[in-house]
Amino acid sequence: MKLVKLIGNLGYGSRKEVALMFREGRITDPDGEVLYADDKVAHEHIRIDGEPLDPPTGLALMMHKPLGATCSRKDQGRVVYDLLPPRYRVRDPALSTVGRLDRDTSGLLLFTDDGALLHRIISPRANVAKVYEATLAHDLRGDEGEVFASGTMMLESEKEPLAPAKLEVLDTRRARLTLTEGRYHQVRRMFAAVGNHVETLARRSVGGLELGDLAPGQWRALEKDDIARIFMQETGN
Ligand code: URA
Repeated sequence: MKLVKLIGNLGYGSRKEVALMFREGRITDPDGEVLYADDKVAHEHIRIDGEPLDPPTGLALMMHKPLGATCSRKDQGRVVYDLLPPRYRVRDPALSTVGRLDRDTSGLLLFTDDGALLHRIISPRANVAKVYEATLAHDLRGDEGEVFASGTMMLESEKEPLAPAKLEVLDTRRARLTLTEGRYHQVRRMFAAVGNHVETLARRSVGGLELGDLAPGQWRALEKDDIARIFMQETGN
């Protein structure tokens, strides 16, 4: 790929703006030698104003999504993309969230610009377990685990029953729920269907990848090992 296009696709500017950056001598190799738009140079050897280029296409990130931010690029108000470097918002291919978390849900949120990886994670066939912890408005009544694990539970206005889900009771009003699907507001709707109400909800892990000690609002790039870990966990269902 031509350097102007490669750098433009990473969000540094339009083709015209990037061409100007070349003319201004802002794009160099690691020794400060000015590069030209027609040079053939590996990504890792390009510097802009002395700084390494942002990661190439094939980027995957994990974030501790804070409460109050939404996952849609188009939403008004605070969006999860505001927590990333501004250039990441205009990369091509686009960096998308892997599924969504509600505004009022916190926890592990993944992003990638790799469509195949995204589909591999969210495809129900991949059976990637997502673990949520919920605090509830009312005491658990005792039969929720059985209902959620049944594989026959229907949510309102859905045509297919939910896949079996695993409930672990942590406390009278706290539970951990493991899902292999990602239907709209699924956890909240499941508890509502058994007469309860989710007060707080946080996602702890996706497959074998855990949130770890990332603080709310923090993010980091995923390494190959992290991505392998996503596909490494059995659901136990
Ligand atoms: N289920 C929900 O209800 N909300 C989320 O954000 C994720 C799963």
